[in-house]
Amino acid sequence: MSINPNQRVLSGMRPTGQLHLGHYHGVLKNWIELQHQYECFFFVADWHALTTAYEDTSIIAESVWDMVIDWLAAGVNPGEATLFIQSRVPEHAELHLLLSMCTPLGWLERVPTYKDQQEKLKEKDLATYGFLGYPLLQSADILMYRAGMVPVGEDQVVHVELTREVARRFNHLYGKEEGFEEKAEAAAKKMGKKNARLYFDLRRQYQEQGDHESLEKARALLEAQQNISIGDKERLSGYLEGGGKVILPEPEALLTPQPKMPGLDGQKMSKSYGNTISLREHPESVTQKIRTMPTDPARVKRTDPGDPNKCPVWQLHEVYSSDEVKTWASEGCRSAGIGCLDCKQPLIDAILKEQEPIHQRADEYLENPDVVKNIIHEGCEKAREEARDTMDEVRQAMGLVYK
Ligand code: TRP
Ligand code: SF4
Repeated sequence: MSINPNQRVLSGMRPTGQLHLGHYHGVLKNWIELQHQYECFFFVADWHALTTAYEDTSIIAESVWDMVIDWLAAGVNPGEATLFIQSRVPEHAELHLLLSMCTPLGWLERVPTYKDQQEKLKEKDLATYGFLGYPLLQSADILMYRAGMVPVGEDQVVHVELTREVARRFNHLYGKEEGFEEKAEAAAKKMGKKNARLYFDLRRQYQEQGDHESLEKARALLEAQQNISIGDKERLSGYLEGGGKVILPEPEALLTPQPKMPGLDGQKMSKSYGNTISLREHPESVTQKIRTMPTDPARVKRTDPGDPNKCPVWQLHEVYSSDEVKTWASEGCRSAGIGCLDCKQPLIDAILKEQEPIHQRADEYLENPDVVKNIIHEGCEKAREEARDTMDEVRQAMGLVYK
C-alpha cells in the first residue's frame, strides 16, 4: 500500500446522468491517463448532488449507475483505480461534521462559487446549510484519502485551496507536538516586544480569516529577523501556518487540461446548453446531430464560399481531424469546392469510430449489471478501509477516543 500522499489521486463527479463527449475529452481521458501513473480513487459524489437539488431525488439512483457505466465504458479500469460511491462510505459525513466544528463561517461564505451559483441558479433554493457547506464536504472527501493530487476543472480550484486551509488549521489545532506552542511563543519574544505583537496579530488574521496578505507580511517579518536562530525561525513559520504534526496532508489541485470541446452550436459542450453528443449516443443520432449542425450562415447555397472561422463545424475539425483533412475542409469551404455535408462526413466517421469501443464495453456492462455492482462494492470496501484508518487518526487527534 502506498502511503506517499504525492502518489495518491482523488477526484469525484456529481451524478448528473449520462456523460457527453465534453466529459470524455476533458475529465475522463485525464483520469484514464492518471490511473496508470498513480494510485487513484474516483467516486460518485451523490451527496453533492443533494446540495443543489434536494427536492427531487428520483433521478439520482439511475444517474449513479449511468455514470459508473460511462466511466467504465470510457476506459476507467477498476483493476487500476478504486471506484466508489460517496454515500457508501459514511465516514465522509463524520469527517465533514468534525471539520465543520473548526471551519470559520467566513471561509465558506467567501468561496466564490457560493454567491455565483446562487445568482446563476436563481430558480433553485440554495439558501440551505448543505449548500453553504458543500465545499467543506468536498474537503472531507479529499482529506479522507490523504490525497496528494486532485484533478479538477478551473471552477473547482478554489475548493482545493479551501481544503488546504482546512487541513492546515486542523493540523494546527490537533497536531501539535508536546511543548511546541510554548517553544514557538518563547521564540517570538526573542524578536522584541513590538515585532512579537505584530507577528501574533498577523498570525491571528491569517488563521482566523485566512487572510493571505497577513501571511505574506508575517513571513517577511520573520525573514527580516537577524537575531533569532534558524531553528526558531522554522518554529515560528510552522506556528504561523498552523504547523505541527501533519494528520491531514494538504492536497494540490491538478488542473485538468481544458480541451476546447465545442458543442453542436459552437459554444462549450454542456448539458445546460442542450448542445451535447452523449458518450453513448446512438450512431444514427450522432449522424443526425452533426448533419443538422449550423454552419457559416454566409453559405446559403452550395456555391457560396464560406469561412471556417465562422463555423462551429470547423471547431470539431480542430478536435478530430488530421492536418490533411483540415486543409481539405478549409480550402474546400473557402472555394466552395465542397458542400457542408461533405465537410461534416469525416467528423461523423471520427466520432463513430471513437465511440465504437465505448459502445462495446458499455453493452457488456449493461448486459451484466452485477459486474458493475461488484466493481462498486469492492471499490467501496477498499475506500472504506482507508477512510476508517483516517478517522481513527482524526478521532485520536481530537481526543474523541474514550476507553
Ligand atoms: N464538487 C465537484 C463538482 O461539482 C465534485 C466533487 C465532490 C469533487 N467532491 C470532490 C471533485 C472531491 C474532486 C474532489 O464537480
Ligand atoms: Fe462549415 Fe465546413 Fe460548411 Fe465551411 S464547408 S461552412 S467549415 S461546414
